[in-house]
Amino acid sequence: MRRLIKGGILVDAEGEYHQDLAIEDGKIVQVGSQLAESVDTEVIDAQGLYVMPGGVDVHTHFNIDVGMARSCDDFFFGTRAAACGGTTTIVDHMGFGPPGCSLHHQLEVYHDDARGKAAVDYSFHGVIQHVDDDILQEMHGMVHEEGISSFKLYLTYKYKLSDEQVLRALRQLRQVGALATVHPENDAAIALRRRALLAAGKTAPIYHARSRPIACEAEAIGRMINLAQLADTAPLYIVHLSNGLGLEYVRLAKRAGQPVWVETCPQYLLLDEQRYLQDDGLKYILSPPLRARTEADRLWVGVADGTIDTLATDHCNFPYQQRQALSGGDFSRCPNGLPGVENRLQLLFSEGVMRGRISTSRFVQLTSANPARLFGLWPRKGSLLPGADADLVLFDPQRVTTIQHQDLHDNGDYSPYEGIACNGAPVMTLLRGQVVAKNGVFTGQAGQGRFIARQPFNHTDQGTKHG
Ligand code: URP
Ligand code: ZN
Ligand code: ZN
Ligand code: ZN
Repeated sequence: MRRLIKGGILVDAEGEYHQDLAIEDGKIVQVGSQLAESVDTEVIDAQGLYVMPGGVDVHTHFNIDVGMARSCDDFFFGTRAAACGGTTTIVDHMGFGPPGCSLHHQLEVYHDDARGKAAVDYSFHGVIQHVDDDILQEMHGMVHEEGISSFKLYLTYKYKLSDEQVLRALRQLRQVGALATVHPENDAAIALRRRALLAAGKTAPIYHARSRPIACEAEAIGRMINLAQLADTAPLYIVHLSNGLGLEYVRLAKRAGQPVWVETCPQYLLLDEQRYLQDDGLKYILSPPLRARTEADRLWVGVADGTIDTLATDHCNFPYQQRQALSGGDFSRCPNGLPGVENRLQLLFSEGVMRGRISTSRFVQLTSANPARLFGLWPRKGSLLPGADADLVLFDPQRVTTIQHQDLHDNGDYSPYEGIACNGAPVMTLLRGQVVAKNGVFTGQAGQGRFIARQPFNHTDQGTKHG
């Protein structure tokens, strides 16, 4: 069957076009003016709507076991929510396996978790939980046989890596054509502060933020940028940037031509640390923590000027009820992470495009095209080129909605964005030509999403857009 999307404004990473778009067999086959209909053409009227590549969210944690709890969104609930918010591809982070566990073992676990459940297309980031000769050896096969071309390094939490491990991993990842991603926080500084706070009985949610101030994150960002340089200029992707000082380090590295990219998340652009002082402050425990309002202002500058490359969610959903039960109000016993996979596009559209901070094409760069390029999905994902998967989101800039958890599609019990009014909303999501969400109703199916074997990282191909 042929589907024709008529009368809308197509938006990709390059600009806007008043054109129609034709879909056959799940692919975009034609883009042009006044495309012809035949008897078996189904026409979707996109009058007054933006037609954009489906969102690519390269930072989620579905079904993850963090020791004290398992996140409540498995690959069905998580991807159902993604679809309803206009996201058609997610790249999830494999969780930590048992000590000494191989990369291939974790990959199998994650394939089993996602198969038959995912409602949008998906891939996984590997996680480097230790470094030895066996792990380094496995990397080549992971990239070239399994289609896993990015790996996460943690500098804090249980499986934090030493500088030596980081250097060895970075060098090998570069060699095999993978992108290293990093959670940058200084573990020792956090541990010391946390111990002192807890010893003084300071356990309220605000002390979560006090235990990991900006310098903890910025120090680790600076260190990682330099370690990547020392590891034969390994490409580096910094996740969940929360502050302006870290942004300045990234800016310096980019100016020097170093292959460094950086992601931020809606929570750091829209929420601030005042949330920890509310009665429900536990809802906002995540790492890095929410910062002062002025940090969000600095991040917006980076979003607008191209220093920040991508917007992802870090969706990691622990219900409020579970947070309360596990922690009794003590930040150190509360699982870390926020939900948000359904609201990413809507929040950036409203706060970014509708407030005049960014253009529509910049919106596509941040939410779809750049992450697709960096993580080996381009041009199949993140583009409107003929031959690309017909993964699309139709956005109505006139629709005004207020975020309420009762309207969302995850398996949790709250939204950190409750009550925020948004100008502009996704009204239809297509996955490979099939309508998987319409006007906030899920119309897809579990198992409809496919695993996407990703291309190796290719630096010379990058040219992530920042115009
Ligand atoms: O607190 C967070 N962000 N939890 C999810 C895991 C991570 O660090 O990204
Ligand atoms: Zn294992
Ligand atoms: Zn992280
Ligand atoms: Zn994360």
